[in-house]
Amino acid sequence: MTMPDLFGGPEPGSREQLDTSAWVLRGFAMACIPELLTELGGIEARSPFRHMVTASGLRLAVAVTSCGELGWTSDRHGYCYRADDPLSGKPWPTMPPRFAELAEAAARDAGFAGFKPDACLINRYRPGDRLSLHQDRNERDFSAPIVTVSLGMSAVFLWGGKARSDRAVRVQVHHGDVMVWGGVDRLRFHGVMPVVGSAHEVLGRQRISLTFRKAG
Ligand code: FE2
Repeated sequence: MTMPDLFGGPEPGSREQLDTSAWVLRGFAMACIPELLTELGGIEARSPFRHMVTASGLRLAVAVTSCGELGWTSDRHGYCYRADDPLSGKPWPTMPPRFAELAEAAARDAGFAGFKPDACLINRYRPGDRLSLHQDRNERDFSAPIVTVSLGMSAVFLWGGKARSDRAVRVQVHHGDVMVWGGVDRLRFHGVMPVVGSAHEVLGRQRISLTFRKAG
């Protein structure tokens, strides 16, 4: 099922409740996108996007980088968070205050006051790239929510159930939208369908997501 886009698309500032503790905040990041993109340029310069491999040797289609105290990584030994960028051996770029403020404000809006993310995973999708259904469970503390900001090309987010085989709801996410999920929904399966469609007017043929977590 696809959430209906009435009258040509969701209205910025509107909120859609996906489940008990899961929300889409339409256009929530819109006002600060120029600042986010400037900060992103600085992060990329220090810790560029790269394609990681999984424990089974598969190359992830989505390119990733991180900022914050901890960065999510994957290699032949599996997934983990680490304090240094394996490419440079240096700490990940500091999480810009604007990033943390946005994540905290979105979490608060969805009912999770006091969110202090220590990790921001940045994913870059090119047309055709997808993320298969998975759970976020490498974090130490599941009481904190997950906040993800969509930039660039639109995508269909898959909002699944508590088992991989549960039917997933399809949710269109657009430039500036923010999703927040936690509490009883913290371990929901989720993913992203192959990115398709026209180039974005600012970011071109790519979708970038910023995913904030309390990992350590
Ligand atoms: Fe995830």
